[in-house]
Parts: sequence; C-alpha cells; structure tokens
Amino acid sequence: MPKMAVLVVFGLLLSLAMVCNGGITSTFVRKTESTVDMPYESDAFQIPPGHNAPQQVHITQGDQEGTAMIVSWITPDEPGSSVVLFWSDKHKTKKAEGKAKQYKYHDYTSGYIHHCTIRKLEHNTKYYYKIGIGQAERTFWFVTPSAVGPDAPYTFGLLGDLGQTFDSNKTLAHYESNPLKGQTVLCLGDLSYADNHPNHDQVKWDTFGRFIERSAAYQPWIHTAGNHEIDYAPEIGETKPFKPYQHRYTTPFKASGSTSPFWYSVKIASAHIIVLSSYSSYGKYTPQYKWLEQELPKVNRDETPWLIVLVHSPWYNSYNYHYMEGETMRVQFESWFVQHKVDVVFAGHVHAYERSERVSNIANNLENGKCSPVKDQSAPVYITIGDGGNIEGIATNMRDPQPDYSAYREASFGHAIFDIKNRTHAYYSWHRNDDGAAVKADSMWFFNRYHHPGDPCKCKDSYFLYHLSKQFVPRNLYSCTH
Ligand SMILES: [Fe+2]
Repeated sequence: MPKMAVLVVFGLLLSLAMVCNGGITSTFVRKTESTVDMPYESDAFQIPPGHNAPQQVHITQGDQEGTAMIVSWITPDEPGSSVVLFWSDKHKTKKAEGKAKQYKYHDYTSGYIHHCTIRKLEHNTKYYYKIGIGQAERTFWFVTPSAVGPDAPYTFGLLGDLGQTFDSNKTLAHYESNPLKGQTVLCLGDLSYADNHPNHDQVKWDTFGRFIERSAAYQPWIHTAGNHEIDYAPEIGETKPFKPYQHRYTTPFKASGSTSPFWYSVKIASAHIIVLSSYSSYGKYTPQYKWLEQELPKVNRDETPWLIVLVHSPWYNSYNYHYMEGETMRVQFESWFVQHKVDVVFAGHVHAYERSERVSNIANNLENGKCSPVKDQSAPVYITIGDGGNIEGIATNMRDPQPDYSAYREASFGHAIFDIKNRTHAYYSWHRNDDGAAVKADSMWFFNRYHHPGDPCKCKDSYFLYHLSKQFVPRNLYSCTH
C-alpha cells in the first residue's frame, strides 16, 4: 500500500477511535426566548374556503402491509359527505365511504370527524384523493410505500412533542425542507397541547389539525399516544381518557391483532414498527403486555429487517425532566427488546434531544447488585426526540455528569430522519432548527441488529474498510461499544 494511503487510513482509524468515546453534551447554545403558541388567526391555521369545506385532513397507514390508507378530516358545520374518491395515473377513480362522528368535551362540540379507509392500493404509486362536495371539494395526494421486503429503502421523518408554537412551525418547515425527504412521519406523541389551556381548550385540537395538514394530508403520520393526549379532567366532568385524541386520530390497530388503538404495529417497506402506549397498563397479564408478547416473535427479520419501536416516555433519559418516568415500562419489557434485537427505540416527552449508546440493564434480580446499564450489542439505541417546539419550552436541565449510557444530548428544537438503505445499513441524522435543513447536528450509521450484528468498534478495521470501499465517510459512524 502506498505510504500516503497508509497515512490516510491510519488517520481515519484514529478519528474513528476518537468518535467511539461517545458521551457528548453539546455546547450549542440556542436562543432563549419563550415559546408561545401561534395566534388563532395565524396563517398556519388557515380555514379552507367554501361552505363546510373539509379541514384538518390527515392520513395514516390503514393496514399492516401498506396497501390501505385511512383518510381523516373534519367538516365544521354539517356532516357533508364521508366519501373519498381516489385514483392514480394508471388506476381509474374509485370510491370509498367512511363514517362521521362528533364528540362533546365540557362546553365544546366538535365538528363532524370523518374517517374513511381506502383499500387495495398498489405499492409505490402516487394516488390522488378528493373529499368534500360542491364548491368545497379538496384534492390531495400521497405515495404508497414499496412492497414489504428486506431491501426496500425507505425514509422516515421523526417528530415529537410538536405543539403549535412559532417554534413548532419552524420544526415542521425544517422537516419539510430537509433534502433527505421523509416519506412517512413517525410521530412520538404530544400533539396539540390543548390541555395546557383553560378547560383543555378543544379549539386547540382544531388549530393543530389545520397546522399539520400541509404535511399529514400528503404523507402518513404514524401516531403514538402521549400524556397530552389523555385529556382526563374530572374537575370539568371529563373522565374518559384520550377522548379527543381517539376521536380525531385513528390507527389500524386491528390489523395487528391489537384490541386498542394505542398499541399496534405496521410494516412499511423493510421496517416493522411497533407502537406502544406509556399511558395504558402494561403489567403482566394486561392486554398490552399480552399483545407485545405475541407480537415480537411474529416479526420476520428476513422480511422486515428493521425493528423499530415508538413509545412516548423514554427509558433512557439523562435530563432532569421526566427522569425515570419510563422506568417501570423499561423493567417490564427491556429484556424482550434485547432478546428480539430491536434496532432502535424512539421516544418523545422530554423537550430536548438525546441519543444513547447500545445499552441494556436487565441483569438485576434484586440480590446481585447488577443494576447499572452495560454496553450490549443486542440492545437498541434509544433516541429521545421530544424537541418539536411546544408551548412548554425547551428542557435544559441535564444530569451531571453525563451518564455513560448517553452518547449525545442537546437542548435544542429539531427533527430527525431515519433513512433505511438496505437490510444492513440505515443512516440516522438529527437536524436542529437553528441550522440549515441539510445540516446534521448528530448522526450515526445503524448496522441492522439481525443482519449485521457485529460490534463495529471491536472489528473496526474490516468495517472501516467496508465503509471506505463504499465511500462512506467514517465520521460519527458508530454508537461505540468498547
Ligand atoms: Fe409528554
């Protein structure tokens, strides 16, 4: 090997060893102005023209395999029509009919909330859909994912704790302008923050629905229930948890054998995505426990190599906000995640950003004293991305010193992209709002835990050369595991 090449390789190996130390608390300083909701009359909440025009349009996957879509919208004044007309360049117009319902909450009565599932869609196809009647018709479009398969590339966007402030608007705009082009949003919960307002101001649910329409009407949002979705308020007579959320945001839970809209799974391209509920019971014998117990063995990694879990309350969190709130769920399920080699767990709830090392904490039996997290290549990476920009503001207070399980943390608003390349590699990046949309404030290559389970730091030469041969830049590549 020529001398120059040896020097280059040595230098790159050295930089790799340096990034393998992990444990970064970013020194980036973001602006400190208060985070306030956009006013009701904001352009971001614009009401579409025409009498009783459909508004708050959003879509989510309607089955397990990605050949159905649930279209949801609200007509404000009267029921109107629950029909969806849909077509593509090579498919003639078809019609599906959904249902509309209303709900009451304290002194508020909702508009007519429509949900309509359109089925038998072809994969990897752009469909147009039309809702509304007369002069108030509105047309949108979406692209179905490619067929479920082990090497199907796919790009997910990640948004958490979004709310409807000026910062929320920046986060969504930043995501929309990201050149990596997310195809489906994995939403980590805490949507409108209506419950932060008097009597859980339900109009805030309406403004939030209009705010996200510009994205959610055109690409599916996969929803996770957060604590701000509970809306439990016995002081005003509202004792049915999740009432507004459940009426407005539906999920395809029955398709995965779930008995609740709050925990379910979908397959998208090469990913199997499991959504859990931090705010539904999960102890042994409960419905969620039993569902997850039978769901994990069903995941076929030869069909969907990437096993992704969404949950609202993080299990590994080194901020002083919500510290250890996810602990009981971690104790309940973490050993299963390690056994089944979950690739990554995304959470929200903490209004900041954090990425963990691959760690587990499952050895403790109350007597052996093994109660600290240890590096574990079969464990997921845990990512907290509750930094959408909601009215409660940024979480800045961190535990000091930074614990070993924490690889990178920063108190900034932003979004992330999980970009699956094939069955072995995915590129993950986090984008803070204060940068240009293409700037990656934190990033890492994910090696699939089932198809590429090696420890990159223990055999770094071969991985390193592999990356060189693929012309990947070996910088910030690994969540290290010495
Ligand atoms: Fe939360």
